[in-house]
Amino acid sequence: MSAQQRNALVQRFNELKGGLARSIDAQTRKPTGLLGRLVGSTMVRKNDAAARWTVSLLDLQPESHVLEVGFGPGMAVQYASEKASEGFVAGIDYSETMVQAARKRNAAAIRVGRVELKHGDASNLPNPEEFFDKAFAIHSIMFWPKPVDCLQELRRVLKPNGLLAITIVPKGRRPDLPTDLGTIYDSNEVAEKLSDAGFQDVRVEVISPRLCTRSKEVIWLAFILIHRSA
Ligand SMILES: C[S@@+](CC[C@H](N)C(=O)[O-])C[C@H]1O[C@@H](n2cnc3c(N)ncnc32)[C@H](O)[C@@H]1O
Repeated sequence: MSAQQRNALVQRFNELKGGLARSIDAQTRKPTGLLGRLVGSTMVRKNDAAARWTVSLLDLQPESHVLEVGFGPGMAVQYASEKASEGFVAGIDYSETMVQAARKRNAAAIRVGRVELKHGDASNLPNPEEFFDKAFAIHSIMFWPKPVDCLQELRRVLKPNGLLAITIVPKGRRPDLPTDLGTIYDSNEVAEKLSDAGFQDVRVEVISPRLCTRSKEVIWLAFILIHRSA
């Protein structure tokens, strides 16, 4: 094989690799169909520690009313409903594929009315004002085209002094996204958006390394905020 042919082969391989990475990013943003179901089942494995950790930070009580935005396959909904055993857990996700998967995972709690999972967008929540004690979103803000609008929606549905957790993998800890798919933020950028949306008392927590069971180099951050009434 000539050097020219070898270069052409390497170039083609890199194009295919880039195409595959883009298609996985697009599915992570909005899982759809069979590939979406596969990507969803990798989330169950990869994001479980972040789900457990985020729910543990919220200090949920048996009667808590809780909202998750971008619940994916629904592990955190399950953990939250176990803690809010006499309360209510609602969720919104704009992927029909994930709504189906998460409803299946939480079927028993849905049947008795303790969990409600809806198809919808973070920018337009179907819930009344000041309804939830706690709200959270895990690995989802990076895909919201207008994050401040979505955070304002979250503030609207939270009770005064309600708590919000936004969990992310920060910039530098995972590859950047193509700009048309999303934005990987660092902690300061998210803190700024939260304060633009009217939240106060931002607290940043870094996950304990012993919780990073699979990807040891990954650090998740959560932003815990107290929503103050005006
Ligand atoms: C990377 S997945 C994370 C899922 C889950 N939170 C987890 O940690 O496994 C991102 C999820 O956010 C949802 N999502 C992204 N943008 C959204 C939006 N604007 N409104 C509602 N859901 C959104 C996607 O459909 C997907 O289920």
